[in-house]
Order: sequence, then structure tokens, then C-alpha cells
Amino acid sequence: MHVNGIAHTLTLDHRTTVLDALREHMDLTGTKKGCDHGQCGSCTVLVDGRRANSCLLLAVAHDGARITTVEGLAGDGRLHPLQEAFVARDALQCGYCTPGQLCSAVGMLAEAADGRPSLVTDPHRPSSEPVVLTRSEIQERMSGNLCRCGAYPGIVAAIEDVAP
Ligand code: FES
Repeated sequence: MHVNGIAHTLTLDHRTTVLDALREHMDLTGTKKGCDHGQCGSCTVLVDGRRANSCLLLAVAHDGARITTVEGLAGDGRLHPLQEAFVARDALQCGYCTPGQLCSAVGMLAEAADGRPSLVTDPHRPSSEPVVLTRSEIQERMSGNLCRCGAYPGIVAAIEDVAP
């Protein structure tokens, strides 16, 4: 696997999830294990550019995949704009869900820019155009990432700050 631009060659039990491979075999503990059932979103990473719950992915099925975790979002000594916005908007309390929220938001912005619709997108809009990220679009597209602390207003505000 290529994780945050670094190639890793691993020998793993075939039942190992991508989440456990990251945390237990690469010491990348930024990605969090919440429910371990694909329901909370705290383990969200980007796999070949698309967001996914890493607790539901088997590592052996992702031989050669390019994975980005929260540790890989910052670059050139600077936080990712979404990370800066989360700080500015105080978009967290305990912070356990935050790595997943950030990776999901990065993936979500790309999906909207690609014109991919959500449940609340106007079905009559031209499919080739980027989706305008209204507050309801952001809420719907981030609905797979739960926050037990209820930091949702700050999370949505931070994403609004970064959305085009
Ligand atoms: Fe605590 Fe989201 S900040 S679960």
C-alpha cells in the first residue's frame, strides 16, 4: 500500500482491515476506531481519492491502493485549509471523530466539484456542473460522520468556509 505517499510492504493476516493495518502495523493512529461496524465514520480515509470507512475494507483487497489518512492532509509545513478552518471554527470537542470528519470533508468537496449529486441535490441540474454546497448539501454529504460531542454547527461552518 501507498499511505500518504510512502510505500509500505506488509505481511498480514488476510482478515486484517485497512483500519487495523494503519493503526497496528504502520503506527498511523490518527485514524480512529469508533464503532468498527461502518456506522460512525471515525475511521474515514481516502482510498484512491475517494472516502471510505477503513474498518469495512480488507487490506488484502487493497494491494497497491493509494491511501491518505489525516496524517497526510497537511503539507509543506502547513495545515490543510480544512484543518485550519476546524481550528478557527472550534469544530470539535473531544476530537475523536475529527480525523474522519476531515478526510470525509476532503472527499466530499471533490465529489461536489465533480458534479456528483447527493440525496438533496436538484435532480434537474446539469450533471456536468459542480454541485453548489449549500448548508443542506454539506449536512447531507457529511451525514455518515457522527459526532458524539455534537460539534456539528462548527463542522458545517468550517466546511462552508472552505467550500467554493
Ligand atoms: Fe467528540 Fe466529535 S468532537 S465525537
